[in-house]
Amino acid sequence: MLKTTLIAAAEAGAAEILRFFNKEFTISNKEGVNNLVTEADHAAEKAIIAVIKNTYPDHQILAEESGEMKQSSSYKWIIDPIDGTVNFAHGIPLNCVSIGIEHEGEIVMAAVFNPHLNEFYFAEKGKGAFLNDKPIRVSDETQAIKACLVTGFPYTYINEPNGPLEIFQRFVRKGVPVRRLGSAAIDLCWVAAGRFDGFYEHKLEPWDSAAGYLIVEEAGGKVTDLIGNKFSVYQHKVLATNGKIHDEMIDVINNNKEL
Ligand code: IPD
Ligand code: CA
Ligand code: CA
Repeated sequence: MLKTTLIAAAEAGAAEILRFFNKEFTISNKEGVNNLVTEADHAAEKAIIAVIKNTYPDHQILAEESGEMKQSSSYKWIIDPIDGTVNFAHGIPLNCVSIGIEHEGEIVMAAVFNPHLNEFYFAEKGKGAFLNDKPIRVSDETQAIKACLVTGFPYTYINEPNGPLEIFQRFVRKGVPVRRLGSAAIDLCWVAAGRFDGFYEHKLEPWDSAAGYLIVEEAGGKVTDLIGNKFSVYQHKVLATNGKIHDEMIDVINNNKEL
């Protein structure tokens, strides 16, 4: 039942994404110059929440655009109606619906759906990760110097030691390919699918990471913060890898080791 509702909710959100993609829609700004929200974000979020409420009226919801609906249930749906809104607004087909279900503080089920590529990622705690119903696994790369990485940059720059550009520079100066797709949920799923060996970012929110986190872990990968602490969707810094390059990535990110 939970899985059926999750899939239906992700599909309902994706239908709204496709309805507005490359068409006319209103755009407004949130905090930060390029932190956009479009009519499609609101429409997708509304469609997703309607599906959930229909089956689980008492479940809690934490959604990017409408915030938190606290209720008594031990289930919480963590929703990003469009992850990759800037891509969406520019007609770039790298954006998705991302939904993670938290139960008693743990993410237990997750869906990320990019309808443009028809890629539906799903994971359930202890039961593996899937792309369009086929099991996926992280890559086997064992050396960071040979890795293909992906990252993202926040809407407002973080000026701190080992900040986003410093780390980017550290890898790029050694010739390591570091991609920047513009959707953290897709970045995480592509680590899970073995396309990337690692992903890091400095300022994610729960709706960016909740689903992708479980999908990476269930695909055999590892997710922590940037210094190797246990991951929580409620803190901002994320390192997700195939597990094999994780410790080396932490050393390079924290400038404890030269690549
Ligand atoms: C953003 C994307 C982007 C990441 C930003 C997020 P949004 O989410 O995931 O890749 O770099 O930190 O805020 O605004 O498109 O939902
Ligand atoms: Ca997001
Ligand atoms: Ca969003």
